[in-house]
Amino acid sequence: MAYDTIIVEKRGEAGLITLNRPKAMNALNKALLDEMIDALAAMRDDAKIGAVVITGSQKAFAAGADIKEMSEFAFASAYMHDALGGWETVAGFPKPMIAAVSGYALGGGCELAAMCDFIIAGESAKFGQPEVTLGIMPGMGGTQRLARSIGKAKTMDLCLTGRMMDAEEAERCGLVARIVPDTELIEEAISAAQKIASFSLPSVMMAKETINQAFETGLAEGLRFERRLFHAMFALEDQSEGMAAFIDKRTPSFRNR
Ligand code: CAA
Repeated sequence: MAYDTIIVEKRGEAGLITLNRPKAMNALNKALLDEMIDALAAMRDDAKIGAVVITGSQKAFAAGADIKEMSEFAFASAYMHDALGGWETVAGFPKPMIAAVSGYALGGGCELAAMCDFIIAGESAKFGQPEVTLGIMPGMGGTQRLARSIGKAKTMDLCLTGRMMDAEEAERCGLVARIVPDTELIEEAISAAQKIASFSLPSVMMAKETINQAFETGLAEGLRFERRLFHAMFALEDQSEGMAAFIDKRTPSFRNR
């Protein structure tokens, strides 16, 4: 598939998806969603890709769902076709996924970043859920994922006032994992993705799945889930290799088995 709204590249074992609708501040329309789903499916199936970075431009990661497209929505068709529901396919990508955010990450842009496993922000990043200013509310997980990651007070503040928060505030409240200078953003995110990709893929995928389980279940059930997958890891060749390499004082050679 040829892509019009995203640019897809490989940097070693890291996949890089750059949102590319510069005239619309990378607004997320249906075409972009379809292309993201297609690109991620190819990266999921590509055994040589161990982690993915999603980024935008210096000015905008993404300024939200495409308001011009959305202004044509009507209840019955939005409901019957589950408008925006396809973004859950993006959120369910099984390999590690990092958002590299500079500039505006607003509405669906903030929600897309929050779907990723963690966010590395450039100093210029600005996060917000301004849907209230359009007479609507978030529809790509803003009320749910943000409430779980940054808590009720900040989520209410962002969603009810529509204000933006800068990278430092976003890091303080736990939305952002690290802040780097804008000029180092892509390099830092790719290097984190390559680091992750150098480890055993099944073990990082299980760690990701288990951490995500913390948002779905209570503590006892989550701990049981963790232990079960931890036990299962002793069926991996990579576990034998990782531990043997430690004992032999050499670098492990993971084979994703
Ligand atoms: N949808 C469609 N087009 C958008 C857009 C969006 N979300 N955001 C920006 N654009 C377009 C503008 O219409 C403009 O296009 P034209 O040149 O054709 O007029 C172009 O991008 C440049 O934008 P601005 O001139 O507004 O640039 P700016 O630097 O003055 O402001 C901004 C930047 C603060 C991000 C401003 O564009 C803005 O407020 N955008 C909308 C943000 C927003 O409300 N996002 C939430 C969308 S709803 C949503 O996301 C629902 C959900 O939960 C899924």
